[in-house]
This record gives sequence, C-alpha cells and structure tokens, in this order.
Amino acid sequence: MTGLGVCYYPEHWPEVDWADDARRMKRLGLDRVRIGEFAWSRMEPAPGQFDWDWLDRAIEVLHGEGLGIILCTPTATPPKWLVDRHPDILPCDRHGHPKRFGSRRHYCFSSGTYRRESARIVTALASRYGEHPAVIMWQTDNEFGHHGTHESFSPDAVRAFRVWLEERYKTISALNAAWGTAFWSQTYRSFDEVDPPNATVTEANPSHRLDYRRFSSDEICAYNQMQVDILRELSPGRPIAHNYIGDFTLFDHHDIGATLDYATWDSYPIGLLSEGDHSHADKARWLRNGHPDFAAFNHDVFRHCSPNWGVMEQQPGPVNWATHNAAPAPGMVRLWTWEAFAHGADFVSYFRWRQVPFGQEQTHAGLLGPDRRDSPAIDEIRQVKDEMERIGSLERVRAPVAILYDYPSLWQHEIQPHGRAGSVLEMSRSIYSACRRLGLDVDIVPPRSDLEGYRLILLPSLTIVDDDLVRRLGESGAAVLATPLTGSRTGEGHIPDGLAPGAFTDLIPMRVDRFESLAPFIRLDVEAEGKVYDAGLWRESVTSPADVRAQFANGEPVWLQHEHYHYLACWPGDELLDHVLRRLCEEVHLPIRDTGPGLRLRRAGNVQFAFNYGPAACDLRSIGAPADESAFLIGSAHIPCAGVSAWRLSQE
Ligand code: GAL
Repeated sequence: MTGLGVCYYPEHWPEVDWADDARRMKRLGLDRVRIGEFAWSRMEPAPGQFDWDWLDRAIEVLHGEGLGIILCTPTATPPKWLVDRHPDILPCDRHGHPKRFGSRRHYCFSSGTYRRESARIVTALASRYGEHPAVIMWQTDNEFGHHGTHESFSPDAVRAFRVWLEERYKTISALNAAWGTAFWSQTYRSFDEVDPPNATVTEANPSHRLDYRRFSSDEICAYNQMQVDILRELSPGRPIAHNYIGDFTLFDHHDIGATLDYATWDSYPIGLLSEGDHSHADKARWLRNGHPDFAAFNHDVFRHCSPNWGVMEQQPGPVNWATHNAAPAPGMVRLWTWEAFAHGADFVSYFRWRQVPFGQEQTHAGLLGPDRRDSPAIDEIRQVKDEMERIGSLERVRAPVAILYDYPSLWQHEIQPHGRAGSVLEMSRSIYSACRRLGLDVDIVPPRSDLEGYRLILLPSLTIVDDDLVRRLGESGAAVLATPLTGSRTGEGHIPDGLAPGAFTDLIPMRVDRFESLAPFIRLDVEAEGKVYDAGLWRESVTSPADVRAQFANGEPVWLQHEHYHYLACWPGDELLDHVLRRLCEEVHLPIRDTGPGLRLRRAGNVQFAFNYGPAACDLRSIGAPADESAFLIGSAHIPCAGVSAWRLSQE
C-alpha cells in the first residue's frame, strides 16, 4: 500500500486552473496523477509536428506540488489526420466494415501501419519524458479490448491470422485435423484459403473460433510488447502498467500481465452491477454498494497477472455508461479503497478529478463537480488518507485457497456452451462468493502457476485440463474440487477420447456418459447428507467407482470423492456449494467464519479487515474480532453498513 491518485486531463481545462487543481490534489493526500491517455491530437496536432509545451508545463505544475506522474501512451485515440491518411488502421466489424473516427479505440491491433505509428508516438513521448524525474510509472494505451475491439476482421488481421496459423500448425493437414474440418465440408488446401470465422451463415467451426480468440489475444499481447520494449529502453527503471477492465475475459490477461510490472484495473462496482447478469433482486439489493464480491474477485484475478497491481480507475460517484447509474451509498468509496489495499493493491487512483462539462462523459461524476465543488467522495478519501497513516504498511500473503482461472477455458465454453445459461466466469464467481461467505481468503491464479502451499484448490468448470496440471494438482497435496464440464474439452476444443473429465480422471476414476443443459427455471433436487439442496442449468450422468456424497433424486451421483479429490456433476445452487465447501474445509482443517450475505473479510499479514456491504450493521465479535475496542486500527467491533473495520491479529 503506497498511495492514492487520480486521473486528470490537463488538456480539458484552462491552464490557469492547473495550479489550483494540483494544490487541491496534494491537500487531499493524493500522491500521483495519471495523465495523457487520450491526448495524441494535442501532442501531435499535425503529422510530425509535436507540441510538447503544454504537456511540459502540465507536468511541471503537477510535479511542483510533489505529485508523481503516471504517464500514458495516447494510442487509444489515434487523431483524425492519422485516420484520414491511413484508413487501414481502423478495426473492422464482423461484416468486414471499418469502424469510423469519432469516439475511441478506433484501431486494429494487427494493422502494420498502426503498429508503426504507435511506435513512433510512443518513442517520441518516451524520448521526451522517459528520464523526467516526475514520471513514476507508464501506462500502455487504455483498456485493451474495450468496446468490442478485442478482435477485428480487417484485411491486415486476415493476413496476420494466416501467418499465425501456419506458425501454430506448420501443415494445413494438421490444421484440418485440429479443427475437425471433415465436418460440413470445411477442408482447406492451404493456409491462404483460411478466413476469420466471421459473417458465416450459421455457427462457425468452434475450433476455428477458439483459434481466432487465441490469435486476437496474441495480437494484443504483441502490440503491447512493442510499446513495452520502447518504454523499457527509453525509460529504464520505471514500472509499466496497463489498465484492464473488470470481469473482462476476451483476451488472456495472464499473458499480457507477464510482460508488465503492474496489472491495474478499472473498478466500477455500481456500473458493472447494472450491466451484469445478476437477478433484479440482487441489482436492487446491492444498488448503491455494488455486489460484495465484484471488486474483490477482480482484485484477486489481477493480483496474479503481474508482480504488482493497483486500481487505476476507481468509481467515485455515478458513472454515465451503464443502463442505469445509481450513486454510491455514503462510505462506499472509502470501503472500496480499503478493500483494494486489503487485497494487496499498491495504489488506488480515482476516475476522474473533475467532471467535464463537454464531450461523451459529461454526466460522469468526478471528485469535483464541473463547478469545482467537492463531491461527497472527497471527505471519504481524506478519511482513508488519515487511516493509511495509522495502519502503516500491509503484508501480502498467499491465501489458503486457490481458484484456477483460465482464459482458453472461458473462451471454449463461451464459444460452445451447449445451453445459454451459466458461464465459466459465473461459476468462478459463485465459487468465489461461496468461499467468501465462509470468510476464506482466495487467490485466483492461472493453472500454470505454482500450486505449492494451497490447502484447497478449486477448478470452476475448467473445460481444458492437461496432464501437466493434473500431475501438479496431485503433487500439491491440496484437496481439489472440480465442478461440471471440467476436462470436457481438449486444447483444440474437441471432446476428449474417453470423454469428460479428460485428464482429470487420473485424480478421480470416472466418466461423464451424458450431459444436459437446462433453462434457469428448471430446478433439480440434490440430496447431500440428509438434506435436499437446489441445483440447475447443467446435469451430468456419471459412471464411477468413487464414493458418492450427494445424489440426484433418481440416485445418480452428484458429488463424487476419491481420496482428497472431489467432483460435482451439477451446477450447484449457493446452499449446496456452501455445504460442500464447508465439509472440505473441515476435512483439511481450514478455519471458516460465517459472514452472511454482505459481510466480507480479508487478511493482510497480521491485519484482519472486515467490510460490510450490508444490508445491516454487524457485530464482529461473532466472527472472532476482539472485544477490546483499543485493538482496532480502523472502526470497531460494531460495523455499520458500508463500514470498514481492521484489527491486528495476535501472533499465532
Ligand atoms: C473507463 C475508461 C475511462 C472512462 C471511464 C468512465 O472504462 O478507461 O477512460 O471512460 O471508463 O467510467
């Protein structure tokens, strides 16, 4: 935990305002400011004519107040002159039509011209500011993949896809086998014949689509790498970040994160609650607080993408882009900030300093109104700043529970789900929420990561499971739980020989003979240890000699156990999931604490945090908080709705 920051756009404001803005930022306790990500047309108003004067002065003013600069490359918004000169940089939609100038992210990652132009502006920017003492960090671009730009179907993308395929498969017959092109007469004679899987009459080949997703992700990665290489050379020693989007799964964040120093993300808990697939009841219940597991889930994903992480944009008030845009409840900006620190964030930066009275985002709140008056978030940030001084530094520790999170599995299932309801992301989130209802800390890690030391490892419908993962799961000594669909596909997206769960059968002898998907209103009864629980969406018929700990009403197995490996053959409702996890924790002697619907816990070294998303105040002594109020670093044992408490744990 090192700091608080804000996103600022000097190019939006008269220069006379900058000094006052910088002073107020500093007075508030902020120590860093992110600038520049959409300012290309101001940096280079005409081809090759750079105007750095305004940026020099803006940096001087901010730095003069002691603020560190997070300087962004401006490549998310290529200027009009560049688009007019090189229309080939535009991304193309599924029908091959180019997008037009006038918003942002109007470029194709595969465009050779755009890669050259991006390298040119990044080089110019980094040559000028790479060694500037004010620059404490770089951000590449802004929110890769946003607004549907994770893939493009431009002529450059088509060419690059063919090259990518040839590198992957070497021979066209290998591609034909991997894609199963015998189906519907899709056999190719050469790589030149292969197009992207767009604009087909009906569903395109799923293996083809999976490869296009992989290719598109690799293109983003290569584009980012180009910027990273320039920044490393011209600005040595400065960390490089990118700002990801919450709950976004359309490219491999682990791959891109591996090339960065910081994985940061943009946290909009209320905006994304409105846009998410939650029930109306949940949307009403969490209207002003956000879902109690949304921010934490993403913190735990991004914590494992790069060596460090932070929140680059934190929602400070109502946003403008969701279907409905409620205001946060008083206290939530403070709560979200502390929750990020408790999960190991290095910094939290708010979006944005001042609400702008023009342009697409004029109805998006800032820390200041357009008239420069403080928004309610200001007092909460001031309070956080005081509390940070009281808490000091926080330790990062490995959680006892790991959820394996794998982008190709997410893509495979999204491409060919069998039924409409239920995604791997939703399964991951329900398992995560179930862990949090039991007061457990969780790491959300890529399958390739080191599994040593975890007591419980959860595979949320990880459709692609290979032998290496299964071997490492076996060696980890942890209890392992897999939910349905685990191991149901190969890397090419085929049903494995010997059927699901593929390689996972090395841990539990079993075979999924049949499966069905069900509409959300169809519910299934599952009997476990004398009680009937609810399930739905997905049901598997399994043959196995393993122990059966829960079954469907007709006696078919649901919960299978072999040694310390477990499998669920249904899409479990929350109560069934809670029951199974509770039993597993008992069996591996992992202490649990029932937190109920809205209380959430997170431990950072020897500091225990509690966050109350509501709906009512709680007495933390029921989950083991000290009775002595002087033990609290923040708050007290009585935690109000939208409250935060933290206390030091005695050495164990
Ligand atoms: C983010 C984006 C920002 C701004 C913000 C508004 O997705 O990075 O530039 O648009 O949303 O909430």
